[in-house]
Amino acid sequence: MKTLLSLSIGALLAGSSLLSTSALAATHAPYTHTQFSITESVQPADILVVLVPENAGELRLAGWDRASRNHINRAIEVAGFDGKAGAQLEIVAPVGLSYGRLLLLGTGNPADLTRAKAETMGASLSTWVNGTKAESIHVNSQLIANAADNHRISAALAHGVELRNYRFDRYKSQPEARPSQRYSWQVALATDARSKFEQKQALAQGVFTARELTNLPGSDGYPEAFANYAKTVLEPLGVEVTILGPEEVKALGMGALYGVSQGSHMKAHLLVARWRGHDDAQPIALVGKGNSFDTGGYNLKTQAASILRMHTDKAGGAAVVGAVKALAGQKAPVHVVGVVPLSINMISGDAYLPGDVVTAGDGTTIEVGNTDAEGRLILADGIWYAREHLNARVIADIATLTGAKVGALGSAYSAIFTQDAAIEQSLRQAGELVQERVWPMPLDGYDGIVRSRIADKINTGSPGAQAGAIFLQHFAADTPWVHIDMAGEAFVSSASGIHPEGSTGHGVRLLTEWAKLYQAKQD
Ligand code: BES
Ligand code: ZN
Ligand code: MN
Repeated sequence: MKTLLSLSIGALLAGSSLLSTSALAATHAPYTHTQFSITESVQPADILVVLVPENAGELRLAGWDRASRNHINRAIEVAGFDGKAGAQLEIVAPVGLSYGRLLLLGTGNPADLTRAKAETMGASLSTWVNGTKAESIHVNSQLIANAADNHRISAALAHGVELRNYRFDRYKSQPEARPSQRYSWQVALATDARSKFEQKQALAQGVFTARELTNLPGSDGYPEAFANYAKTVLEPLGVEVTILGPEEVKALGMGALYGVSQGSHMKAHLLVARWRGHDDAQPIALVGKGNSFDTGGYNLKTQAASILRMHTDKAGGAAVVGAVKALAGQKAPVHVVGVVPLSINMISGDAYLPGDVVTAGDGTTIEVGNTDAEGRLILADGIWYAREHLNARVIADIATLTGAKVGALGSAYSAIFTQDAAIEQSLRQAGELVQERVWPMPLDGYDGIVRSRIADKINTGSPGAQAGAIFLQHFAADTPWVHIDMAGEAFVSSASGIHPEGSTGHGVRLLTEWAKLYQAKQD
């Protein structure tokens, strides 16, 4: 049977609603030009990739004559190719085949090949393909006999190819060619594999949205522009989007959120995005730090290196938008609401000052011990809003919050703070699955850490990552809650694994998988 299903890889917005006075280049859609199709039959292409399990014995594929078989098996023997996971053997101009190149890609024992490993293999496959002039690639999986493994591995490889091929080129007046090959994936049963591929594509679209928002320079990703962009990409998927402007933020009493941006004409906004995929009355709330740029405020970041990448300080908010987009794209059976407090931390004659006191939505007065600890100020109101106005049953906040976290864990793990065992367990599980790993840190044992002499609380304290978390804990009150500090994980300066250079979209895959796991525990 010959089945060829085309997947529209980039049903993404054709333009963006960003308004800016700067030289914002025309936007491109989709985010990648790599195309995928699924088939059960062997297809012609420039490159043939064969997935080879360990101990596969002599290789024989349908359509290979004796000369091809001998050539390929002799090459395997000479090169010592063993089919271990990730092993590659390239054979140029294979005798007797129409393909210009043959790549044997080892899968080890297919049952043991994790999703994360397969994604990384997909990423390195794509970089290798990009180094050739190939326009079409056929990936043959027929040596993976078990259909579930066959589909799972093919979809994960495709996901890795797709994630690595994203390019942020909207500011290039002449964008370099994006990788624009056609991949056909030969699978055991196309109808069954299709939904697996589509779920992964929806996830990738969420990651791309987060990367795009995070990559935007501070002056283009300002609060209102961020909110409008999110609305444009979410509404077509059936997400209900509400944007609160500065006057509403103020009227609701969210003085901590308002205060951070008061020095800029780009005032605070609050984005609320709801995906109702389940009839639960109470949503799972994801709250992300959306600080468009962090100069530090009057506690100015004075080192060039410390201020440079601070347009990525909206990565937590971008991850929340991306996760809601992925969940909606997957039509996931969860009721989730994304909340993104949006600010820009700048100085001017109107900016908030060190030592000022702001009043949060819940009435808590906060001494601004340091204007550079702005993330917890905007999140305090975001968390409170999720609890008080959205009746969340659980709250996960995510933020590029502290340098102290980077000092403690680097970028291999996000720090998580929670007193809820079910949340901790499901987050660790989700983190392992997508290799956005998390490590628990303590909330108890730090009495008085955010005590202020003049107000109810102060936004500074030591140790730094714990002070941020313990400050935020107050605003979640009795609602089950976790704080995720992802500082250091928003950006890579050179490509690695599934990430091209630039922002990573970190947190999208973690939050998407977590919301589904957490929901499944409750059902
Ligand atoms: N956005 C920064 C945290 C950060 C630092 C993220 C480095 C990514 C890389 C945050 O707003 C900040 O400035 N935190 C301060 C807080 C301090 C002034 C209490 C910090 O961690 O130094
Ligand atoms: Zn910040
Ligand atoms: Mn800061």
